[in-house]
Amino acid sequence: MDVNLNGKVALVTGAGPNIGSGLALMLGKYGAKVACNDIRPEAAQAAVTRLERNGIEAIAIPGDVSDEAQVKAYVQKVVDRWGHIDILINGAAIDGGASVLDFDYDRWTRQIMVNLSGNFLNTKWVGRHMVDNKIKGSIVCLASTAGWQGRANSIGYCSSKGGIIQFVRAAAMDLAPHGIRINTFTPTATQPDNVQMIAARSRAAARGGGWYDLPDGPERANAAGQPGQKYHTGGTADFATMVPLGELPTPTDYGHVVAWLCSDYARLITGSDFNVDGGALAKYWPYVPPAEKAGPLPLIKMDVTEM
Ligand SMILES: NC(=O)c1ccc[n+]([C@@H]2O[C@H](COP(=O)([O-])OP(=O)(O)OC[C@H]3O[C@@H](n4cnc5c(N)ncnc54)[C@H](O)[C@@H]3O)[C@@H](O)[C@H]2O)c1
Repeated sequence: MDVNLNGKVALVTGAGPNIGSGLALMLGKYGAKVACNDIRPEAAQAAVTRLERNGIEAIAIPGDVSDEAQVKAYVQKVVDRWGHIDILINGAAIDGGASVLDFDYDRWTRQIMVNLSGNFLNTKWVGRHMVDNKIKGSIVCLASTAGWQGRANSIGYCSSKGGIIQFVRAAAMDLAPHGIRINTFTPTATQPDNVQMIAARSRAAARGGGWYDLPDGPERANAAGQPGQKYHTGGTADFATMVPLGELPTPTDYGHVVAWLCSDYARLITGSDFNVDGGALAKYWPYVPPAEKAGPLPLIKMDVTEM
């Protein structure tokens, strides 16, 4: 038995080098043609180049997910190219932020617009295309563990991601009569497995910079609760220790589940949430897993550039 997306067309928003590009790659590996969106044209093109290296047919459709005219235009571009869209992955987002006491209203508004309204606009226009063409498609919206739990110094991010979870339940009711499915996938802290991204991170580290020095998001430079902010609440997050299976998930791990969710086998699944998190969300909150762990099976690499 074989899960495949042969003949299907996928549109992935926010196809930056980490999860978006990874999901685009995996949908392509399972047989879909993939349109890669990002507000940064170079990020959309980098995803296309990665897919093409892997033998996957792909196009770049740069644009801002929170601008309705741009969304309509890039959706049309995909339809003009391939005639139909069967899969939508709503991945574009701005991470980070600040405490409810520090966050600027402008940044709050922008984060809600991109993270939540972007899901609405893309679902609306791809959904209309699916309904008008009787396509029983699949839409996946990327939430976050920060949509289910409170993360300090991230008021806009947590609020928008929590909103996505309820958006999906409501949209599932609107789309179900048309045979269209919509679900959330909940990533957690993710271990990148895109070799280009890993190399860029190493170069940034060698320059004495950190994760946020990477040009991997237009507004991410201000992300993640700066300690300098007046009301920053401190605290730490120890991802590696707290994951029961002992390893953080990669975009490849997510991609297998998302591809299956977009396959015809998942025909009755809508309004649900999925995660691949090494047991993180299932964990009794005060439980600290043992330091010594056997670890999971090794990752089966899917990007031919990594072989
Ligand atoms: N990486 C993680 O640890 C993690 C954890 C939980 C959830 N997530 C979620 O998974 C998704 C992908 O995460 P990632 O780590 O790859 O994020 P990322 O920041 O690396 O990528 C997001 C991409 O969205 C693009 N983008 C931002 N604003 C946009 C706009 N207005 N229009 C179009 N594109 C826009 C950015 O340019 C970037 O390339 C996001 O929704 C994120 O919130 C990530």
